[in-house]
Amino acid sequence: MKPSVETVDFLVIGGGVAGLRAAIELAANGSVLVLTKDKITESSTGYAQGGIAVALSDEDEVCIHYDDTIKAGDGLCKEDAVRVMVEEGPGYILELISWGAEFDREGSKLSFTIEAAHTRKRILHSNGDSTGKEIDRALINKARTFSSISRYDFAFTLDLIVEDNRCIGATVLRGDSLITVFARAVILATGGAGQVFSKTTNPLISTGDGIAIAYRAGALITDMEFIQFHPTTLYSPGAPQFLLSEAMRGEGAVLKNINGKRFMSEYHEMLELASRDTVTRAIVSEMVKTESKHVFLDLTHLDKDFVKRRFPRIYTTCLQYDIDITEEMIPVCPAAHYIMGGVSTNLDGETSIKGLFAAGEVACTGVHGANRLASNSLLEGLVFGARAGKKAVCYLNEGNVDGTAAEARRKQVTDRKTASSARFDAEKTRSSLRQVMWNKVGIIRCEKSLAAAMKWLNRRDFIMEASFLNRREAELKNMLTAAHLITDSALLRKGSVGAHYRSDYKQRGENWERHTACKKGKAAYWGDL
Ligand code: FAD
Ligand code: SIN
Repeated sequence: MKPSVETVDFLVIGGGVAGLRAAIELAANGSVLVLTKDKITESSTGYAQGGIAVALSDEDEVCIHYDDTIKAGDGLCKEDAVRVMVEEGPGYILELISWGAEFDREGSKLSFTIEAAHTRKRILHSNGDSTGKEIDRALINKARTFSSISRYDFAFTLDLIVEDNRCIGATVLRGDSLITVFARAVILATGGAGQVFSKTTNPLISTGDGIAIAYRAGALITDMEFIQFHPTTLYSPGAPQFLLSEAMRGEGAVLKNINGKRFMSEYHEMLELASRDTVTRAIVSEMVKTESKHVFLDLTHLDKDFVKRRFPRIYTTCLQYDIDITEEMIPVCPAAHYIMGGVSTNLDGETSIKGLFAAGEVACTGVHGANRLASNSLLEGLVFGARAGKKAVCYLNEGNVDGTAAEARRKQVTDRKTASSARFDAEKTRSSLRQVMWNKVGIIRCEKSLAAAMKWLNRRDFIMEASFLNRREAELKNMLTAAHLITDSALLRKGSVGAHYRSDYKQRGENWERHTACKKGKAAYWGDL
């Protein structure tokens, strides 16, 4: 491993919607280095299908978007954060359009669709079901116009460098180099943690790195028990857990059990467009009742050309698995999709560590509460990515890293990294972890299942404490850490709120209006955002 040192003004870790938007905001103020651990296009942003929610249609208003978001969050949204997102969202979307993002239109007017728990059509989409790819394209192209932004792809951030509760950089693996990057401010935008579960819509990069890295650095982490499970992913042996967008239900697709019976009327008056947690649990209940591993999503009553035009990516992908969605019902089951909790931030993306910001799925701004309203996360990434970037500029005149001190620190970091080793089967542990989390900390949890998961995790705490110099093992360490925080928080919340459902505590429970918090060296505790 060749050690080296680099210094930039701003380090942005992550190249999805949040990281790119933050980088663009910073570009006029200093040098910006954006790190991605894979190809730039390999992010949840790149796979986002349904769209981006924004109150821009004639029938909509910002205050209605606010109300829908608060309602979906089931009493735990941070109201001022929601207000910021819905009020500033339209401006950021229009700006994105001015940078070249193309959303689908009906004639010259933007076309809006509806998804679960929205009371208005307010979801913009691109190329039918490839919204994230288009947003990515526009942001990557915009970022390329700034000579101050540089990018290292396939550069894996191992840890943050924090001195006296001030973040001054990060250690990064890139090829056979171990780089110590010093920066005046660091923005974490590493996305979610879906890979912690064996069934997930998330891409392979979503291993909870940012949450684990921030936790190890001493940052406050909140609301980790709130995992959103998406109701409809393709169930086909051999096929990946491919998402079947909620927008399909928005356009009229219905759910049926394996006996061909439509069932959502037994669970909620909003039927297939009830909130995600309700639909997911209804599906689980039908799967149990019918002793089946899936239910069906049925679009066969919709016009075939419309379906192909509106959902081209889904249509083509399902055909690869011999399912023609215009002619046959699609077998579907739920999968882990989104984490509402994460690194706690204020409205400017500031974390509890000075100079460390977080934005996008890795952050917990409080916008989503206990259950995210569909298509609000791309908007959150855009709005809070930009806000974090704006605020980080304040660090331009702080924290000048002098050469001698930097060299001493580099040596310290390198020595520590090369000193440790661990012996275990990383791939087997990864696979077992994902099974344990799905089976014991999944859609329906209880004390017994959570305690069993915790016991399993505690037996692997030596991995969480070791240091690694390769991506797979470092990811495993981060996945175990994120899993530990999710399980610990889920054990603390003895009640059911939003996406967190406990079969042994079906009511909201004590302290339900408070937020769970985690800090290094402490068990999960009740805190506030
Ligand atoms: P991401 O887009 O996931 O980007 C994370 C970045 O961090 C990547 O560049 C990655 O390489 C980098 N990274 C991670 N760890 C490291 C590390 N250790 N070192 C260096 N770099 C690192 N939301 C909506 O609002 N609308 C939708 O229609 C929608 N559809 C979705 C469909 C799917 C299949 C999925 C999985 C999610 C969907 N979501 C949707 C959720 C939404 O896409 C994500 O929440 C959002 O894109 C997250 O953006 P982000 O910038 O925070 O992270
Ligand atoms: C979907 O298209 O169903 C995903 C939307 C989201 O997660 O917000």
